[in-house]
Amino acid sequence: MSDPVLQFIAKRRSVRAFTGEPVDREKLEVALKAAMAAPSARNSRPWRFLVATEPERVKAVCAAHPYAKFGDKAGAVILPFGKKTDYRWFDQDMGAATENLLLALANLGLGATWCGMPEELQAQIRAVVEIPEELFFFALIPVGVPAGEVEARTQYDPERVYWETF
Ligand SMILES: Cc1cc2nc3c(=O)[nH]c(=O)nc-3n(C[C@H](O)[C@H](O)[C@H](O)COP(=O)(O)O)c2cc1C
Repeated sequence: MSDPVLQFIAKRRSVRAFTGEPVDREKLEVALKAAMAAPSARNSRPWRFLVATEPERVKAVCAAHPYAKFGDKAGAVILPFGKKTDYRWFDQDMGAATENLLLALANLGLGATWCGMPEELQAQIRAVVEIPEELFFFALIPVGVPAGEVEARTQYDPERVYWETF
């Protein structure tokens, strides 16, 4: 993969093994700036981000999600959240910000994985990190210093591309 743009994008892979080292706060702030560079419908920017770095809190949040338990050695966990009710573009705006966040983290040398946050998991996470009832966790992202390499890749499939017409 020689194209630098593609290299940057393809570097984002789901990383689920961490060394247990703390995560540099400045890097987290850069990634949050990248997240907030995302587009949103009518520039609504529905996003908020709960960032936990205290080891006990990070562990407790990751343990509360059935598919994020690998985050027990993460140095941080980021929870994008916001007011979902009565805002029809919530998922699209939050998805754009979350992907920007992940792209930045990967290119800052950090590992992370987007863990989905359906309705039925909201209460479990809320029991660990409280946010007001009207707000919704969009994703749960363990972040850490990667233990090992995950290969950059695109899954480009020309059969999924329709030039001009279907
Ligand atoms: C909406 C969404 C929810 C996901 N939920 C989880 C999850 O709960 N736990 C997990 O380990 N990975 C989760 N993933 C990561 C996917 O498994 C991963 O992105 C996919 O296998 C492709 O691998 P890659 O991210 O390395 O390209 C989720 C990804 C998305 C976009």
